[in-house]
Amino acid sequence: MKVLLVGSGGREDALAWKIAQSPKLTKLYAASGNAGIARHAQCVNLKAEDVQGLKDFALKEGIDLTVVGPESPLVSGLTDAFRNDGLRVFGPSQSASRLEGSKAFSKIQMTKFGVPTASYEVFSNCNEANHYVIEAEGPIVIKADGLAAGKGVFVCESSQEAVNAVNQIMGKKVFGEAGLKIVIENKLEGEELSVLVLTDGEKIIPLATSQDHKRVFDYDRGPNTGGMGAYSPCPLISEEKFQQIIDSTVRPMIRGMAREGNPYRGLLYAGIMMTKDGPYVLEYNCRFGDPETQVILPRMKSDLLPLLYQIAEGKLETTQIEWFDKACLGVVIASGGYPGHYESGFPITGIEAVEKSDDVFVFHAGTAKGSRGEFVTAGGRVLLVAALGENLRAAQERVYGVIGQIHFKNSFYRRDIGRRALEVLR
Ligand code: AMP
Ligand code: GLY
Repeated sequence: MKVLLVGSGGREDALAWKIAQSPKLTKLYAASGNAGIARHAQCVNLKAEDVQGLKDFALKEGIDLTVVGPESPLVSGLTDAFRNDGLRVFGPSQSASRLEGSKAFSKIQMTKFGVPTASYEVFSNCNEANHYVIEAEGPIVIKADGLAAGKGVFVCESSQEAVNAVNQIMGKKVFGEAGLKIVIENKLEGEELSVLVLTDGEKIIPLATSQDHKRVFDYDRGPNTGGMGAYSPCPLISEEKFQQIIDSTVRPMIRGMAREGNPYRGLLYAGIMMTKDGPYVLEYNCRFGDPETQVILPRMKSDLLPLLYQIAEGKLETTQIEWFDKACLGVVIASGGYPGHYESGFPITGIEAVEKSDDVFVFHAGTAKGSRGEFVTAGGRVLLVAALGENLRAAQERVYGVIGQIHFKNSFYRRDIGRRALEVLR
């Protein structure tokens, strides 16, 4: 099978690594890929947003399956364009991708299908929004409606913070059109959990649970990022509890979308807050999580490619995924300054030494090749070092035992990935 993988981050490096192991694969291309992905795939210089260019490439090369990593080409309709030309593609339709592409749409669907979520209001008028937040009692969360690269959410403890957030999104339009509408909702309290399921629009196969660490600094301080580390499984959730979470947060959405004639086919990611009243959905994403994927896939024993293919065909035949009975934990090494301004182009050393350790993986998120063929930094999140272990603690020890061998100028990483879960377990 000839496969084209769309994307260029750490999630796509993990997907490329996994897909490359499939006996069904004959050739893997990645567009545009990165220096790490190039170890598993032939990189093609086409951007994820270049739908026409990607489609022309897939037709010319006789690609059997295109797998879409990031949200933006999904939300802008890549899968529909491919299917119109008879190309097989893994990822939800443009209409179904609105679950991530529009927070207002997503909230409306959740309310309609009885999925527990924070109560909310939608505004498209700046004055009305300001009036509302000044009157609001207690902490609130303000979200740009459209895609904002993970930066469009403001958790506001005071009305001053809320007024500032409204002004950023609707007044200064820092997210452009993505901020024409905003969702304002109540702040929820609890532990966060990521639930990822594969679905053909009817059948659902859950992947292993995981937890992301969104804040940039230790002890969950500093601004939100795309994710600074993750682990899987989430040891705080029993198998029975997990099934209940799927039944209340994912199943009603998949069923409801199908009933409306807008089936969701692909990977559905539910960001969950475990509140004292049970699991509430914070958001849906229409694609694999990053960095969750980098800690879920090393645990997966089954071949991923047939699952993606079957979903692209519209019918899941496989009913179960086999997992290694091990935990996986991953820590992101980022460029100094991330998630704000940072510099790139610094040589990276120590990757090969770290990869020599058993059950340790280095996934590339933002790397390129320098003039002498060496790896150099090319993004905010640069690498993720992951390790498998008998349990979470063993995986954590393994990662932190080797991560210090990787060096580049101004690098930093969180030293507490997995700490809270281990404390709660104890
Ligand atoms: P989202 O993109 O909607 O997942 O939001 C990003 C992050 O903001 C989440 O991972 C949470 O940490 C936080 N967040 C979003 N909505 C809420 C909420 N209603 N209550 C508390 N925190 C929230
Ligand atoms: N890790 C959060 C996300 O993929 O959106």
